[in-house]
Amino acid sequence: MNLTILGIETSCDETAASIYTTKDGVLSNELHAGIEPHIIYGGVVPEIASRTHMEKIKPTIESALLKAQISLNEVSAIAITYKPGLPGSLLVGLSFAKALAWAADKKLIGVNHLEGHIFSACIENNIPFPFTCLTVSGGHTALYLVKNYGNYELLGQTLDDAAGEAFDKIARFMNFAYPGGPTIEKLAKEAQFQDFFHYPRPMKGSLDFSFSGLKTAVLYDMVKRGAYNLKQKRFLKADDLEFKQKVASSLLVCMADIFEQKLALVFKQYPTQAVSFVGGVACNSYLRKRLRAFTEKHGKQFYVPAKQFCTDNGAMIAFVGHYKAQKGQFSPWTLDVFE
Ligand code: KG4
Ligand code: ZN
Repeated sequence: MNLTILGIETSCDETAASIYTTKDGVLSNELHAGIEPHIIYGGVVPEIASRTHMEKIKPTIESALLKAQISLNEVSAIAITYKPGLPGSLLVGLSFAKALAWAADKKLIGVNHLEGHIFSACIENNIPFPFTCLTVSGGHTALYLVKNYGNYELLGQTLDDAAGEAFDKIARFMNFAYPGGPTIEKLAKEAQFQDFFHYPRPMKGSLDFSFSGLKTAVLYDMVKRGAYNLKQKRFLKADDLEFKQKVASSLLVCMADIFEQKLALVFKQYPTQAVSFVGGVACNSYLRKRLRAFTEKHGKQFYVPAKQFCTDNGAMIAFVGHYKAQKGQFSPWTLDVFE
């Protein structure tokens, strides 16, 4: 049966919509990147995000339908992220999806945003089960054993900050704008990805992560090197590009080491044929390269989604919605949002 799924994603600041069909896969993947108005605040402001979704959700969906050359009539079901995320943002998406589905007489499919990320590398790849999924974004850092579509087990997760959040916060210490991850990557490249300051690799021996301690360790290391005034919360080496490159480079090497340690533990404890690396941080070319080499050295296949499917997107929601629709897993009209 050829199903056509409209996937809608509004869990954080990005308004996204996509059309996925059984026959041709992703036909469109439209995105309004809502980051602009948040930059001056150094992070996502929930109220601004909700208001932007209200403005952009209709044109984004219209554009996804138009690009795919699909009319709403031809859509089989509407998939919508209902958790986890910012409640106001989720509510805009879910309310819109419900109204649209009700009016157009379509079925509704609630999708867990994390399940979207977990299967995002499967959109364009046939990954052998069971595989290990390392999900790393600004809001989440977790390891899963993925046994089949819709069947996965959480192996470990961050106990405090997410890895992307650590990139963002450490970049902010050095006065860089949000999001800090891409800036850290650029700076680290200039320093040739060398480990100058050897920051700690916490939680060795556990499948859980902790990045709050790492962030504090980097801050105290800056204080020790006369680069940061804690009392005034002021970065003192604003003109020292080389220092900033060394921090970024050491941080990135540290992150790669942490992820490799976790994968090594997973390989020892669980059957896994492949590794997928997903989420916004998986856009990082250095981390991709390191984790690919490490995984392949252990005789396993390595997969990363195309960058448009790493950051928040509608295609991963439509994709999960598609296999749920195949199994007849639709949601009731009483579906609510969950943080
Ligand atoms: O998945 P995503 O777009 O949104 C969340 O669900 O959080 O991830 C955003 C995170 C931010 O923390 C950002 O700094 C990080 O991904 N990020 C990167 C890179 N591009 C985005 N981190 C490291 N290197 C990158 N190239
Ligand atoms: Zn996400």
